Amino acid sequence: MKNIIFESDRIRVRKLDYSDIPVITRWWNDGSLMKDMGFINGMGITESSLLSRFEKQLSNNNAILESRMFIITDVKTDNEIGELQYGELDLENKKCRIAIKISEINYQGKGLGEESLSLFIDYLTSEFGLNKIEIDTIHDNIRAYRLYEKLGFKEIERIKDYWTDDQGNKHDIIFMEKVISAIC
Ligand SMILES: CC(C)(COP(=O)(O)OP(=O)(O)OC[C@H]1O[C@@H](n2cnc3c(N)ncnc32)[C@H](O)[C@@H]1OP(=O)(O)O)[C@@H](O)C(=O)NCCC(=O)NCCS
Repeated sequence: MKNIIFESDRIRVRKLDYSDIPVITRWWNDGSLMKDMGFINGMGITESSLLSRFEKQLSNNNAILESRMFIITDVKTDNEIGELQYGELDLENKKCRIAIKISEINYQGKGLGEESLSLFIDYLTSEFGLNKIEIDTIHDNIRAYRLYEKLGFKEIERIKDYWTDDQGNKHDIIFMEKVISAIC
């Protein structure tokens, strides 16, 4: 299958495709998933708004872009189970920001978040020669914070009341980074 960036015994990760738009729309509108990012009612987005948002990468499959989304699939069933993203790619300073969701809730808590993120970091490091990877989470998201710590990210800044959700609740944000050590 084309556009695969890596795979393991359990997961396959590939570039975003036009056919993924309906499933991402479903995920991003699902409050039971999106509550961990502060959207307890989901994001209220449409397929056409997502198409516009991702059009550049969907129509430029081979270009190096400043941001890209990838889909995690279950190797056994080929079903979509989550997403990985990089953004703010800065080739001069050899860094980028990343994000992850294991979006099918019955796939969470099985080690797939850790495996996907760890392999994604390896992929980005070798693909772009990165020295540093940044990540962030709202402070309420203990699972994400613990996962990032486990993979070697260190907290560098915490900003109080950074973001107000649609219920009027304020959330602190935590910025973390992982310095990539050179392999001799
Ligand atoms: C956060 C998320 C990526 C973790 O992936 P996962 O597959 O559920 O987690 P894993 O089974 O791979 O667990 C890996 C590590 O994460 C942390 N973790 C996972 N579940 C946890 C929980 N319920 N409480 C605390 N830490 C937890 C632990 O450090 C765990 O390592 P351990 O098993 O050795 O303790 C996933 O739950 C998810 O996508 N959640 C919804 C979206 C989200 O919050 N994305 C992050 C946005 S900032």
